[in-house]
Amino acid sequence: IPVDDFDLVIFGATGDLAHRKILPGLFRRFKAGQFPATSRIIGAARTEQDDAAFQAEAAAAICDYTGTDKNDADLAEFLPLLGYVAIDAKGEGGWQELKSRMRPGAVHAFYFSVAPALFGDIAERLAGHGIAHDDSRIVVEKPFGRDLASARALNATLAKHFHEDQIYRIDHYLGKETVQNLMAVRFANVLFEPLWNAQYVDHVQITVAETVGVAGRGSYYDKSGAIRDMVQNHMMQLLCLIAMEPPYHFDPDAVRDEKLKVIRALQPVEPGDIVRGQYQGEGSDYLTDAEDPASRTESYVAMKVRISNWRWQGTPFYLRTGKKLRARTSEIAITFKAPPHSIFDDSGVPKANELVIRLQPNEGMNLKVMIKEPGPGGMRLVQVPLDMSFAEALGAEGADMPDAYERLIMDVIRGNQTLFMRGDEVEAAWAWTDPIINAWEDSKRQPEPYDSGSSGPDEALRLMHRDNRRWREIR
Ligand code: BG6
Repeated sequence: IPVDDFDLVIFGATGDLAHRKILPGLFRRFKAGQFPATSRIIGAARTEQDDAAFQAEAAAAICDYTGTDKNDADLAEFLPLLGYVAIDAKGEGGWQELKSRMRPGAVHAFYFSVAPALFGDIAERLAGHGIAHDDSRIVVEKPFGRDLASARALNATLAKHFHEDQIYRIDHYLGKETVQNLMAVRFANVLFEPLWNAQYVDHVQITVAETVGVAGRGSYYDKSGAIRDMVQNHMMQLLCLIAMEPPYHFDPDAVRDEKLKVIRALQPVEPGDIVRGQYQGEGSDYLTDAEDPASRTESYVAMKVRISNWRWQGTPFYLRTGKKLRARTSEIAITFKAPPHSIFDDSGVPKANELVIRLQPNEGMNLKVMIKEPGPGGMRLVQVPLDMSFAEALGAEGADMPDAYERLIMDVIRGNQTLFMRGDEVEAAWAWTDPIINAWEDSKRQPEPYDSGSSGPDEALRLMHRDNRRWREIR
């Protein structure tokens, strides 16, 4: 569905995120015919350059990150939409010029692809120069704070100039097609929801494993660690979508209200229920990548999380995420309880059904069911997968999944906040992670080393084994 004519200003337009995600994403949407060629994309950053230089910079980034040919006809049509204004976020230079470029009648959106320390300066100048108005939208990126106090301060800063319904806080996991699919699977099928509770679900595993390390971004990452970088935001969102009650409608506040209830129902994590790790190995060592040989920051975390509500009382959620692991894989596995009684003499303990939702790569679903092993030898049971790959099931459309940013930027223009985090949601997530982080900072403990290319520290295995459960293999 095409969106309305818009003017999108990207602060930080010469930065990495603009090059890697925002500009390529906009180009793909343009190519798909999703927005009118009258729309304008205005880069704003400190560098002094003109429109033509920015267009050349954008073309290079788009070719690099989308594999587009530099002589592509769509690219030639897209580039004239781009303009550039050199702007001083902390001074007055460039703001009048920016104002003169904004067209009345178009949707106005301002993407803050800059360090959070600049959010306040930019918001103030947009308002002060009369560039932003009541129906303008702003888009902000993570990290949204580094604890509850800083997140509250950021929310308060933005709230001075913008209403909550103008603020789009991006968590790019929510833009992933397969993450949105979690809601479709749960709420558009009658099959799963009746079983989706502590009575039938033994436990849930959420895994986001990466093969990359932190080399090249060690100075950011070392101040953050896996809990701030992945758990407080991306993993929390996955947990919410799996655990929340059905919203009454697929509507921004209805969905976000339900997510917030899950976050508020999370129990504090006991020190014995969390394992932190740091990758090590020749040529691939966290302490070298992080540039601090004494760093205690975790590049891996595994934890057992409990949700105190009627639906989930007694069903643990095990979360793990890490860098430099054996494979890149994100998945959610729901292990159901075993049937209470087996009528088959030889089958021993009946096996539990398991539903695995693969978020990336090889997006799809796998439901393990028990069937009879063929043959005359009696009633022998075997567990087999009902496996579906979205790409195969949906044909070309499934194989060509839009990048998270494409979807999210178009939602900003549409004015749909369903897939964006509300201020209270972000604060509640920090309120839960703060004590976990503080307890670690106060302790003298060291993270558990794990070999680069492994499945993580052995300690994490014990987190499961003591509950008579085991992690799924990372592969
Ligand atoms: C980012 C984190 O938010 O998400 C990175 O800062 C991480 O450390 C990335 O690598 C993972 O995103 P994706 O889309 O590659 O799973």
